[in-house]
Amino acid sequence: MEISKKYLSIAIDGPAGAGKSTIARQIAKKLGYIYIDTGAMYRAMGLYFVRENISLEEEDAVIKACEQVDISIIFEQGEQQVLLNGENVNGLIRSVEAGTMASACSVKKQVREKLVELQQRLAAKENVVMDGRDIGTHVLPNADLKVYLTASTEVRAKRRYEELIRKGESVSLEEIEKSIMDRDYQDMHRDISPLSQAKDAVLVDSSAMTITEVADHILFLFSQIIA
Ligand code: DC
Repeated sequence: MEISKKYLSIAIDGPAGAGKSTIARQIAKKLGYIYIDTGAMYRAMGLYFVRENISLEEEDAVIKACEQVDISIIFEQGEQQVLLNGENVNGLIRSVEAGTMASACSVKKQVREKLVELQQRLAAKENVVMDGRDIGTHVLPNADLKVYLTASTEVRAKRRYEELIRKGESVSLEEIEKSIMDRDYQDMHRDISPLSQAKDAVLVDSSAMTITEVADHILFLFSQIIA
């Protein structure tokens, strides 16, 4: 799809738990842009495969599922809600299992094509801050600012652990650290659009920074670009 440059975009990519969504949401709010969480779309797809008991090994079943399933988004009080065949599944896709499922189904070409098209359509009609794994490299190659946001594995695991504990999930730090490392490996080593830093992306390591410091830094970089 040809990406229109009528609207401005910030692409934020990076591994799980680097703080992408919190920071992207904050930046979008400050700029009055739409925040698009692409991971949530892969999570909804993963949920569909589990519910329908579709094995990712069965190529025909995956193709058929991608033809049939409808993933769309709406906004409620500025917050993205993912609809899976019309059902709001936002409350069901944040668990560790959903993240693992999302990563597993995201290796599939048909899944990626379907979701990338949706993401590009959204960015063609709004100013957006979009986060994910392949936004700067593939979804929005002409994004006005590309950021590759990372942090050490320990810091990322601790942040995810605290977030899940706050939500009342019963998880261990070791379990989270392992799932983060497995997901990093899978996301960085898949054949199609693996997680990598785009050549023109700015590397930001948030290990020793607060959310506000990272958001302010990105907003500063962006202000220089659009000045
Ligand atoms: O950002 P997240 O943790 O919600 O993403 C869940 C998984 O979805 C991630 O491990 C890989 C996949 N994903 C992807 O392949 N491409 C994206 N743009 C976003 C997420």
